[in-house]
Amino acid sequence: MFVDEARTFARKMSRSLRPTVGEREAPMPPGDGVLGHARVFRDDPLNTFARWCATYKTAASLRVPGANFVMVFHPDGVRHVLQTNAKAYSKQTRGFEKMRLFLGNGLVTSEGDFWKRQRRIAAPAFHRHRIEGFAATMTRATNDMLARWHPSDEPIDVDRAMMTLTMRIASETLLGKDLSGEADVVGDALSFLTLNTNARIIRLVDVPLAWPTPENRRFLHAVKTIDDVLWKLLAERRASPGGHHDLLEMLLEARDEETGEAMTDAQLRDEAVTIFAAGHETTSNALSWTFYLLAKHPEVAAKLYAEVDRALGDRTPTVADLAALPYTKCVVQESMRLYPPAWIIGRFPLEDDEVCGYRVSKGTQVLVSPWATHRHPDFWSDPEAFDPERFTPARSEGRAPFAYFPFGGGPRVCIGNQFAMMEAQLILAQVSQRFRLELSPGARVVPERGITLRPGPSLPMHLRPRHG
Ligand code: HEM
Repeated sequence: MFVDEARTFARKMSRSLRPTVGEREAPMPPGDGVLGHARVFRDDPLNTFARWCATYKTAASLRVPGANFVMVFHPDGVRHVLQTNAKAYSKQTRGFEKMRLFLGNGLVTSEGDFWKRQRRIAAPAFHRHRIEGFAATMTRATNDMLARWHPSDEPIDVDRAMMTLTMRIASETLLGKDLSGEADVVGDALSFLTLNTNARIIRLVDVPLAWPTPENRRFLHAVKTIDDVLWKLLAERRASPGGHHDLLEMLLEARDEETGEAMTDAQLRDEAVTIFAAGHETTSNALSWTFYLLAKHPEVAAKLYAEVDRALGDRTPTVADLAALPYTKCVVQESMRLYPPAWIIGRFPLEDDEVCGYRVSKGTQVLVSPWATHRHPDFWSDPEAFDPERFTPARSEGRAPFAYFPFGGGPRVCIGNQFAMMEAQLILAQVSQRFRLELSPGARVVPERGITLRPGPSLPMHLRPRHG
């Protein structure tokens, strides 16, 4: 009897001395005294996060003055945060607050019941069969661009060309018109807002928007530029509804399945700016990085050209051709593994949580980074190699969910992911039918971190004709 009690007591003691799961903090990489990891965030987050991922494998604790972070690397942890326990996390990070300054209460920057309702209303507009109706707009815009492309010894800035192209596609599919006249003005306003928002996120102290500094005035002017175009368009649509085949019309006509309610003009404005902002720059970056990688890997480019020639000849592709272009899709997927346009995603836990055995306290910001996890050495062999065949069905089989998540995941997964994949596959195939893009000798291209990951400072490439 006494022996049994002693054993029970010893068991209890050993349990209370051992930290229970969830009491352990994720390991903290060495930092810089009071600054903690502030310099890493500012100077070299990409290489450093990838190195920490290879070292710590599951998660790491980071801190900067005034904020603590847990960065989760392991796909199981990413799945927990974005999907399994998504309801315990809010998106209200610093980045979220800054993005709201111009996106308002659109899908990316709303939460709770309001977001749920907006997503429910918008979802049908993004169904595969409706999205497929936009393929002809995409290929026509690409053909127009290619008709203006001429081989020359002068390089073109492929990044700028892709921005213009995806902007045109976004405006035609979303708003039903090519904003060519206004595209530069709207495009410049949107680029400024994106870059400036990023600067506001990174800065430790940001001047409130209400203060009339030159920067704030420019910000408000850019928002007004975009709003003027959208308000005018919404008024036109309200005056003569119907007959348009674009996302705006789908959103105007959409009714909440549960309540029968439609969106107000203010909601439509926020959703339109959001879809514009979220939809064109990300896809443009994915394409720019793809052309950059193809120039660096002629053996991959040769396989791509062979597939495109076999499947299409010199015919403009349609949706029906996509199934015959599997390698083209793998190239886009692998390019987004190495250069995920949305390279980091933040969340705030609403309550204390545990991720892969580590404590995540309420008030700590959680970061997941497709850039880092897409290089996780336990899930990707030779992670830095550009190897599109990783995405063939045979080699994808058994891959951990969330080892690859360029479009996020869980309830907040990118609503435009099918749109983006279709657009990228079509544009890549069409450009490859006619041109090989060669990186300008001496060009130094590095990833520029904004809200998205962009090749910077530009992407100068020479257009070489593929045939005769
Ligand atoms: C290669 C292109 C794209 C990438 C890499 C991308 C990536 C992402 C990611 C990672 C998220 C989730 C963010 C989070 O969880 O916090 C997201 C959300 C979103 N994306 Fe995309 N995106 C792309 C293209 C598009 C396109 C073409 C559209 C629209 C036409 C779009 C519209 C949206 C919207 C509205 C959301 C918010 C969804 C919600 O929270 O309900 N995206 N995107």
